[in-house]
Amino acid sequence: MKVVITGGGGFLGRKLCLALLNHHALLDATGRPYVPSRIVCFDSVPFDPPLPGDPRVKGVVGDIGDAATVRALIDADVASVFHLAAVVSAGAEADFDLGMRVNLDGTRHVLDACRALPQPPKVVFTSSLAVYGGDIPPTVTDATPITPQTSYGAQKLIGEYLLTDYSRKGYLDGRALRLPTIVVRPGKPNKAASTFASSIIREPLQGDPAVCPVTPETSMPILSPRKAVAAFLHVHDLPAATLGAHRGILLNGIAARVGDMARAVERHGGPAAHARIEWKPDPAIQRIVSGWPAAIDAERARRLGFQVDADIDEIVANFIADDMRR
Ligand SMILES: NC(=O)c1ccc[n+]([C@@H]2O[C@H](COP(=O)([O-])OP(=O)(O)OC[C@H]3O[C@@H](n4cnc5c(N)ncnc54)[C@H](O)[C@@H]3O)[C@@H](O)[C@H]2O)c1
Repeated sequence: MKVVITGGGGFLGRKLCLALLNHHALLDATGRPYVPSRIVCFDSVPFDPPLPGDPRVKGVVGDIGDAATVRALIDADVASVFHLAAVVSAGAEADFDLGMRVNLDGTRHVLDACRALPQPPKVVFTSSLAVYGGDIPPTVTDATPITPQTSYGAQKLIGEYLLTDYSRKGYLDGRALRLPTIVVRPGKPNKAASTFASSIIREPLQGDPAVCPVTPETSMPILSPRKAVAAFLHVHDLPAATLGAHRGILLNGIAARVGDMARAVERHGGPAAHARIEWKPDPAIQRIVSGWPAAIDAERARRLGFQVDADIDEIVANFIADDMRR
């Protein structure tokens, strides 16, 4: 039985693939354990660096916006789909048509391909805190109204609703996680407005300069890639009966002040690393970030057993161990 990871060449898709290779077994939609014989990573760009050299892993390059490609990808042997492929926030905002094609049409293609299978598969979908926006309280809870203020947030929310409806109809067994910002992202900055949260840790520790466009007092919820991937595996195996009427789950993160992130860089990399952070406020980015929740208090995620990092130091130490360029 196969697992498909869409966006399998991206930041979290690659880490999920590695985690699945070391994971004992998954529970299929009937609750039976199975060990994946194949992990198919699907992405629109060639896999560079290459995927893990394990015979169980296969890379497929294609466009999730093409329904026939997705139908061919998700065949009768697929028991689980982790649907991560997306155009991220600023990308979807800058190119409306691309965001709709990838984030909305692509999600429908995945759901419809799953619906066509003889056995309903498990589907894990990555949603985002971007489903909240506008006049929100500083701390988002399970009761906070869902009012996306970006195309990306709207596309993710529609994905959650469709996933819930396809699950209600019995076409598949879906679960969606509203992720906070995942820190530290390795590699280069991306197009997300939150990209500085990784840059101000990653760059100084690797010996490069970083610009912080927001004030040290700015607070945002963050979660490490280790905890995000653990959450993907955990939510996959939760019994459907525990999920209730809506399949979208708000995940907790730790509320981190940007100044505290910089101090953690100093603790792990010394004063020279800390000095590589240049504080250069950018009013446009400050305005965007100030519109986000400063913290999350999600009782449902706690009750369902999702874990958060102990503190910023744990997040920084994990980056040094897992991803830091030597
Ligand atoms: N990383 C975060 O902080 C964060 C926060 C909230 C939600 N999320 C969501 O989690 C998921 C994974 O995030 P990530 O950080 O790994 O993102 P990422 O950008 O690293 O990975 C997404 C992948 O999707 C691929 N993709 C884009 N268009 C495609 C297309 N047309 N067809 C096939 N593949 C396509 C990209 O090439 C990329 O490799 C995304 O859905 C994202 O919206 C991430």
